[in-house]
Parts: sequence; structure tokens; C-alpha cells
Amino acid sequence: MAKQFTFVDLFAGCGGLSEGFLKLNFKGLCHVDFDRNACMTLANRLKDYNISDEEVKKTVLTRDLTKHETVEDILECVKDIEVDLLIGGPPCQAFSTVGRAQDKNSMKDDPRNYLYKHYIEILEKLNPKIFVFENVTGLLSSKPDGEKIFPLIVKEFKKRGYDVYDNPKDIVLNSVHYGVPQIRKRVILIGIRKDLNISSKEVYDLIEKTHYAPTDEDRDGLKKFRTVKDAISDLPPYMPGEGEEEIDFTSESKNEYIKLIRNKSNNKLYNHTTRKHNVLDRERYKILSQNKWQLKDLNKVRPDLVHYNPKHFANRYTVQEFDKPSRTVVAHLYKDGNLFIHPDPKQERTFTVREAARVQSFPDDFKFLGARTHQYKQVGNAVPPLMSYQIAKAIKKVLEERR
Ligand SMILES: C[S@@+](CC[C@H](N)C(=O)[O-])C[C@H]1O[C@@H](n2cnc3c(N)ncnc32)[C@H](O)[C@@H]1O
Repeated sequence: MAKQFTFVDLFAGCGGLSEGFLKLNFKGLCHVDFDRNACMTLANRLKDYNISDEEVKKTVLTRDLTKHETVEDILECVKDIEVDLLIGGPPCQAFSTVGRAQDKNSMKDDPRNYLYKHYIEILEKLNPKIFVFENVTGLLSSKPDGEKIFPLIVKEFKKRGYDVYDNPKDIVLNSVHYGVPQIRKRVILIGIRKDLNISSKEVYDLIEKTHYAPTDEDRDGLKKFRTVKDAISDLPPYMPGEGEEEIDFTSESKNEYIKLIRNKSNNKLYNHTTRKHNVLDRERYKILSQNKWQLKDLNKVRPDLVHYNPKHFANRYTVQEFDKPSRTVVAHLYKDGNLFIHPDPKQERTFTVREAARVQSFPDDFKFLGARTHQYKQVGNAVPPLMSYQIAKAIKKVLEERR
């Protein structure tokens, strides 16, 4: 039997990034996150890969990565096994441009800016052949201490003996290029241990784009981008407050995305329950989606429905359009869904967790656990599995060549 390549996932969340590697038969030695609900989801998912309860208990660590004991636990978890790969994305809120605009000092003092140091500490201990470090694009320009942090991070990785290609032109990947019905740009920094004698740039060249984005001029050999319609139009239509956490469901859709996303042996649908909305919000959602409007348009005809200054909050209410990829799914979804208004005006509501998961390319048999607010957070935080699949495929090729 071919050797299974091994990996450790730090800040693993519900396992969106892990998912692509698991699909390609990588073996997860250890997945770490301090969010109990995300770990529950991930542990439950691992069972779908025929990993025993006992093994799951050992590999999913609900731990704080800033604590020294956690490093010990990880080392215990991998013991004498060679780690081929370290993956992970320290949380990104503090680097996000929205968070940054608010308070300069909070930026400097926010310990979340420095979580990458724990990633590097563990990298040093595990010394894997390859690492994948995922983050928001804000990382490239962020200056928490008055100095750009991105070159410092790259330097730290290089100091540990890795070749790291860092040209922003190539290291920012857009999920829509990998068949995800969503525009989501993320920094994917890949490092290769120098003794492997392969440049990190070569891995990027192996990451295969499958679809073009709406704004791409160069579309050669690529399929058309996937859309919100491809992703969600077969799901049961619900009014606010309807739906159940688990129902029997057979999709009538013939589109290839749904074929890919639905597991034929599982006729269940999970996490498709709608939020309750007040009368005013329902009216807003209906009019905005009927007309594909923004708040400023609504303000012209129904100012009584606009309680924000539309100049400053132009995109506070956003209808996802059926014929486009969705905009970036964010963890903020757990607070309200106003950025994810369903495009069908008859449904007068925002996205369910399953709809958000569909535009994130999670397969339908991936079940999110915990209260619904936690589920939204898990989905919004995740790397889309179809994107992680393409990254995993490229890395697997490199590892196979260097075996
Ligand atoms: C961007 S999300 C990771 C998403 C994940 N890579 C995926 O694809 O699903 C960041 C995660 O870091 C976790 N986290 C934040 N601080 C942490 C800490 N000190 N120790 C462990 N996990 C932490 C959060 O709970 C969150 O799940």
C-alpha cells in the first residue's frame, strides 16, 4: 500500500483546510483548536473518513496554542512518526482591514497579531518537509508595530531552513479559480524544507486553476465560474424561522456542482434552518432582492426602512446574486446575515448555515455541530475545501517525487 503522507493542522477550526488533504488520503496526526464546537464538528467529520472513535479522540486536541503544555501534547501526539506537512491559519481578525481602521493601539496590543509565533515554534519542533500558512490578504500590508509584519514572518520561516516564495502576485489565491462559487482571496504561504531541493515557487505552479473568475480576461482552458445559483437553488425554499437541523433530502438538480457536493449514499440534509427575522427586515430583504438593490437605492424609495446612513454603510445589506459567485463568506455571519441576503425575494431571509457551507464548497455530508451561531462561525472561518483540495494535490505531487 502507498505510504500515507502525514500532517498536523494548527488553528484547525472545523477542518475546512484539513478536508482537502483528507480527501487525498493524507493522514491527520493532530488537529488543534481551542474552540470546543469547531473541534466537535471536526471530530465528527473524521469518522466519515473511517477513523475510529479512539483515534479521533487522540488526534483532535481542544487546546490553546499559546500554552506551553499544548506543544508537549502535540509532540506526544506525533511521537516517533515523521510529519510530512504542517498546515494552518492563525486567526485573521486582527489583520483584517476592517478591524485595523478602528483603533491603532488595539492593533499593536492585540495578541492575535502574534499567534503566528506559536505556529513557527511548532514548525521548528516538528521540522516537516512542507508547511502551508493561510491568512487574510490584510497580512501583506499590516503593521502592528509600525513595521510591516509579512516580511518579518517570511524571514522567520526562512531562518528555520525553508524556501519560501513570497511574491504577492502569486501567493494570493482566489477560491473562485478552484471551482468554489465564491470570491475569496487568501494568502497561502508555502514553504519547502531546503534539503528537498525544490523551490516553493514550483508548488504554486502545480496548483491547478479549473475555473475563470468573472473579471478574468485570460480564460484559456478554464471553465466558467460557478455561481450562487449553482450552489443553492436546489435546496428546499424556506421562510424565516423554518427548517430543521436534519431532514431527508434528494436533490433534483442536474448541475455538476451539486453532483460533486452531494454524497449519493447520504440522503440527509443538515444545518438548513433559517433565522427568524422581524417584519422590517423581511420587508428590506424582499425589496432589496427583488430589485438587486443596495441600501442607497432603498433609501430613495423607502427611507423608512433605512436605519443606517447609506453613505457609510452602503454594503451593510447585501443580496447575493444568483448569476454570480457569492461574496466572501465571513465569520461575522454568526452575528447577523445581512451581508448574505437570499436572492429569492419570496424567501425574505438571509442564508442558512447549509447555504453558506454550499458556497464555501463543503460537501453536504459535512455536518456542523454546536449552536447555530457557532456553526456560522465555523463555516465563515474555513478554507473552502475545493481550494484546499487543489493545494493538497500540488503538495502531494511534490512529496511523491521526493519520496
Ligand atoms: C481562521 S480559523 C481557521 C480555519 C480552519 N483553517 C479551516 O479551514 O476550517 C482560526 C481558528 O483559530 C482558532 N484559535 C484562535 N486562537 C487560538 C488559540 N490561542 N489556540 C487554539 N486555537 C485558536 C479559532 O478558534 C479558529 O477556529
